[in-house]
Amino acid sequence: MLYSFYESLVRPVFFRFDPEAVHELTLKMLGAAGRSRCAFMFAQKVPDHPVEVMGLRFRNPVGLAAGLDKNAVAVDGLGGLGFGFIEVGTVTPLPQSGNPKKRLFRIIPAEGIINRMGFNNDGVDALVRNVELSNYRQKGGILGINIGKNKVTPLEKSLDDYLICMDRVYRHADYITVNISSPNTPDLRKLQFGAQFDELLAGLKAKQGDLERLHGRHVPLAVKIAPDLTDEELGFIAEGLLKNGIDAVIATNTTVSRKEVFDMPHSYETGGLSGRPLQSLSTSVIRKLHGILQDRIPIIGAGGIDSVSAAREKMDAGAKLVQIYTGFIYHGPRLIRLLAENL
Ligand SMILES: Cc1cc2nc3c(=O)[nH]c(=O)nc-3n(C[C@H](O)[C@H](O)[C@H](O)COP(=O)(O)O)c2cc1C
Repeated sequence: MLYSFYESLVRPVFFRFDPEAVHELTLKMLGAAGRSRCAFMFAQKVPDHPVEVMGLRFRNPVGLAAGLDKNAVAVDGLGGLGFGFIEVGTVTPLPQSGNPKKRLFRIIPAEGIINRMGFNNDGVDALVRNVELSNYRQKGGILGINIGKNKVTPLEKSLDDYLICMDRVYRHADYITVNISSPNTPDLRKLQFGAQFDELLAGLKAKQGDLERLHGRHVPLAVKIAPDLTDEELGFIAEGLLKNGIDAVIATNTTVSRKEVFDMPHSYETGGLSGRPLQSLSTSVIRKLHGILQDRIPIIGAGGIDSVSAAREKMDAGAKLVQIYTGFIYHGPRLIRLLAENL
């Protein structure tokens, strides 16, 4: 395999340092690059392979998954790397610091990551200010904004937090993702089940209607789900999405399973596992979900995409778009170009 500049020179240096410190530094650099006249030095040319999903036109089907740029500080720099769309967040109504450090771990032999960040972010108002400063959307870039609840908000008041975020981000988003699948906010995943799920979706849908009338624009709502669901739970979720007219579903978030990384260094850390060890699990969720939804609700596939074949598997299973995060950390910007050229 031909290694890129990133894999042979940059990654070995990055991987000598603490993952979160590297993450913050890289985001700062991308943020600065996006604002400077040197933006072209970090940019790469990626051919257009347009696709239409959720009524939106994407330059190519390869997106950046949520969690890498939680506060939308580097949207322009990231946009220059050739992503077909960028999802920022998860953002919560109030700023919060997340879980104590260390909370991000590389599982190198498996090309995985375990994180228990816990929605560390500067709050929705700061995110909106950053999005306003960026010109990514003016240049035709598609921006998703991923919203969540504050840790201090009781579970039964979750809807309020999502509605506050929706209200603030609606004008600034091309689509909005409702994150109910992070394993790092206590009980958040419970929102995927039972009456709470239905009530949440109905409340969000009603708000979407109000905001659509107010702003004269339909901003699609996507719901992001976990990979750790039984077939029965998946069936229930699919029915709820259909019943409430949700525009898209993102499958999947990180897994709490450790089956694929048994006994590897850091594998016993608490948190969500992403990257290659998640690949087949998330693909099987997409396949089952597509079996129920058919093409009534588009699926955005995420989980361990690190090659063209891994992305194709997601699309063959029923995904219309894909997102990458961990693969991007291990393989760098070349992965975006490879995927965009070959899908
Ligand atoms: C460090 C880290 C932080 C993440 N934070 C979020 C987040 O804030 N919101 C979210 O919806 N997903 C978050 N994710 C999940 C990713 O968006 C993605 O769904 C998951 O990692 C699977 O894709 P991957 O295997 O390509 O990383 C995070 C993932 C990682 C590795």
